Amino acid sequence: MKERIKELEKEAIESLRKITDLKDLEEFRIKYLGKKSELTSIMKSIGKLPPQERPEIGKLANQLRERLKREYEELKERLEKKGKEKRFIDITLPGRAPLRGHFHPITTIINEVCEIFSKMGFRIVTGPEIELDYYNFEALNIPKDHPARDMQDTFYITENLLLRTHTSPIQVRVMEVERPPVAIICPGKVYRRDSDVSHTPMFHQVEGLLVDKDVSFGDLKGILTLFVHKMFGKDTKVRFRPSFFPFTEPSAEVDIECVICKGKGCRTCSFTGWLEILGSGMVDPEVYKFVGYDPELYSGFAFGMGIERIAMLKYGIEDIQLFYRNEMRFLRQF
Ligand code: PHE
Repeated sequence: MKERIKELEKEAIESLRKITDLKDLEEFRIKYLGKKSELTSIMKSIGKLPPQERPEIGKLANQLRERLKREYEELKERLEKKGKEKRFIDITLPGRAPLRGHFHPITTIINEVCEIFSKMGFRIVTGPEIELDYYNFEALNIPKDHPARDMQDTFYITENLLLRTHTSPIQVRVMEVERPPVAIICPGKVYRRDSDVSHTPMFHQVEGLLVDKDVSFGDLKGILTLFVHKMFGKDTKVRFRPSFFPFTEPSAEVDIECVICKGKGCRTCSFTGWLEILGSGMVDPEVYKFVGYDPELYSGFAFGMGIERIAMLKYGIEDIQLFYRNEMRFLRQF
């Protein structure tokens, strides 16, 4: 019995030295000091020993019990203190700066364009991306057999329902329900079946429309020139080049002096020195017929610009697809 108590002591102390957390310490307590522990059963059996052995064994067992208890309490206190230290917060450490998000470059350009026109009194209006053939084509003077429909590479949903190919249908929707004066600016997504370095199947346009009494081509030129100067800087040269759209007459495309080569001629401007940035024109009287405006009384102009194109020119980006690859290395630059 004496031997066993000595062995037990050695075993218990050895295992106690290996303990590093409170969970293991609790297991230790149960194994060596608990009600079902070997030491407890030794103590219980002392009564059955021959009377002359009882005092010595009893003393040894009690000494062991006291030692284990003491060691247990000490270690418990140490481990609890260590646990608390771990939770201590060092307020002198420099903070970890949270990653700050920002607008996508396309959103930034849309906001800039809308702000420039808002300040001139244009109201921001949006329309549906899934559009009726009527608003996207028909009421813009593009009938079913019109060749301009081929230029647009439309995604059709049904025969009469499509993904809008431009933001011009919003003009019709607004004129249908409002009388002049109308001055609106309409940002939004548009869709065309096209994909290469300068085309994505989804891209953004901003449409503008101003209809009132006595609106002239001079107003169109003045407002769009002001826009270019606000957007690209007041020294940017602007040129109006005759063009064609079924819903405007006369029509003009607006070019700015190449921002890359300053008009000298480079790859970006195909060595012309000019970059096209938007389409525009005086609203065709045919369109007024669809919305019930009197062309004798009212006149106005409309324009539409591709946002990705403007962003590419402003930031010097050569591949339009970069806007939609969600590459952080690209996006972080803005
Ligand atoms: N909707 C035309 C396009 O997508 C742009 C445009 C808008 C032209 C308004 C004239 C007037 O190409």
